[in-house]
Amino acid sequence: MCGIVGYVGQRPVQEILLAGLEKLEYRGYDSAGVSVLADGEIASVRAVGNLSKLRAAVLHANNGASPDAAAHGGTAVAVAELPVTSGIGHTRWATHGRVTESNAHPHFDTTDRVHVVVNGIVENYLFLKRRLADIGADFTSETDAEVIAHLVSHHMARGSLVEAVRAAYAELEGHYAFVCMSADEPGTLVGARKECPLIVGRGDGEQFVGSAIPAFLAHTRDVQVIENEEIVVLTARGVEFIAPDGTPIERAITRVDWDQSTAEKGGYETFMLKEIHEQADAVAETIADRTTRPDGVDLAEAELDESLLQGVDRILILAAGTSFHAGLIGRYAIEEWARIPVDMDIASEWRYRNPIVTDRELVIGITQSGETADTLAAMRLARERGARVLACTNVVGSQATRDADGVLYIRAGMEISVAATKTFVCQVAAMYLLALRLAELRGTMDRAQRTALVAEVKQLPTRITELTEGLDAPIKAAAERHADADFYLYLGRHVGRAVALEGALKLKEISYIATDAYAGGEMKHGPIALLDESTPVVCVATDMPILDKMISNIQEVRARGAHVIAIATEGDDRLEPVAEEVIYVPRTDWMLQALLAVIPLQLFAYYVARKRGLNVDQPRNLAKTVTVE
Ligand code: AGP
Repeated sequence: MCGIVGYVGQRPVQEILLAGLEKLEYRGYDSAGVSVLADGEIASVRAVGNLSKLRAAVLHANNGASPDAAAHGGTAVAVAELPVTSGIGHTRWATHGRVTESNAHPHFDTTDRVHVVVNGIVENYLFLKRRLADIGADFTSETDAEVIAHLVSHHMARGSLVEAVRAAYAELEGHYAFVCMSADEPGTLVGARKECPLIVGRGDGEQFVGSAIPAFLAHTRDVQVIENEEIVVLTARGVEFIAPDGTPIERAITRVDWDQSTAEKGGYETFMLKEIHEQADAVAETIADRTTRPDGVDLAEAELDESLLQGVDRILILAAGTSFHAGLIGRYAIEEWARIPVDMDIASEWRYRNPIVTDRELVIGITQSGETADTLAAMRLARERGARVLACTNVVGSQATRDADGVLYIRAGMEISVAATKTFVCQVAAMYLLALRLAELRGTMDRAQRTALVAEVKQLPTRITELTEGLDAPIKAAAERHADADFYLYLGRHVGRAVALEGALKLKEISYIATDAYAGGEMKHGPIALLDESTPVVCVATDMPILDKMISNIQEVRARGAHVIAIATEGDDRLEPVAEEVIYVPRTDWMLQALLAVIPLQLFAYYVARKRGLNVDQPRNLAKTVTVE
């Protein structure tokens, strides 16, 4: 999830772009850049690191010091001096390609006359890159995004910038938004949206475009939403909305009354709620270019050589907190689909077990931040003892990527709230992809089975949206009914147990209520003693092979008078008779249900904590990344 900003108007653009990017840093900031049109040429400055690094680089460029300035026409100095009144900017959260200056945006074509900033993923970039390179395009980065600059430039040979963008749009596949400029069409910016957000800010003789309102809220409150599959043309005079086939579109201007912090939260009251509502997009980006084949998954990427997955007798998953729970779901999927034995352990324990590993073992370290000390130490120890190590992380260039032999990235974008939500569902999605790939490599699933599952995996973003949009209100009501409880028990069986553990962790870390989670079958061996009429018991009871066992555990709970809130599968009426409240999730493959079943539990914990007036984004005693052992 990167940040895009663009401006065309009368005022010097540099500060408008830099300040706009600073307001978008919550979207990611491993590198950044700006391109401005000066004197018929595009001048560009990029830098690795957060916006202060870019500001320093622009300052250097002003003093003619920056080597980068030289690379893009000697007019960088113009950046500071000449009235430069149009340009684009970008702050990056890397998904494809390392964190380097050449992978930072804006990207440009071989003639350096078309520059583009992109948020999202181009799924068919490899195919387009090969085709464009064959006709002379000179690629300078490892990114998927750069292909758009060359493609637009290619089509500009036969038309205007907007026609070239329409032609490029017709060829691009993926989940993205981009804004581009051409030295041959000064004073014009053209943007396009396919799923990823893009929005226009209207001014008097000046126009703004950005990934989110904070990019230009300091200048205007008059916005125009760019709907999915639309193209916009910005000039100082105004903004045109068109469909990909060129048909003009009318779009109303709406006035936003958000303050800056609400704007950064996309209009949500907290980052946690915003991130819960970003889960569909995050999973879509995580599976995007890995599920282009209907009958299988492809994980071969810059930092993952699939030979790492071959000849593996055993898998060991190591992680902490929420990442451990994602690994637990991964274990069930890998064992069920790929028939490889999978061990699990929490990293802070495993590393002191004097553990035994072999070189035919694949150790997977799951860590969204890529900086959790215990998980890193465990990964290093496994490597020292001869195992192959795969990191599953959300942060390009994090320590975990250096402590592993390969990296499977999730693409959740920056997660600000301490309580992990979108990174969790992306980790689970990544585990499903890994299990499916291993099943194909080992021949444990036939083409029909794989095709059916890949189709269901690709449906996950839509089903997540159904949940986050549809369940908000009923879950809020249920949570407020039980917010005063002083103890909760969460139960689940099989893969549902991992979901129960994660649901319980969410409630603990943001509401501070004593909460326990147990395998349903284990309850009668002790914790059932905790139950009485005042105990809410949250039961993960989605349709799965041993649901009947789970239902009998629920009856044990009911027999002690406790209040059962069940998570069940749409259309499955077996829970109504045994639960006071039933929350339904869309039906899909039973293993994939686990990813969906956690979403009502995230919302439940959220609204219990809000009802108790707690700061969910920064709970007490907790840090987003635990870098201490
Ligand atoms: C989850 O909400 C918590 N923030 C915490 O348990 C977290 O999952 C754990 O610290 C692991 O973090 P990591 O994924 O960055 O390694």
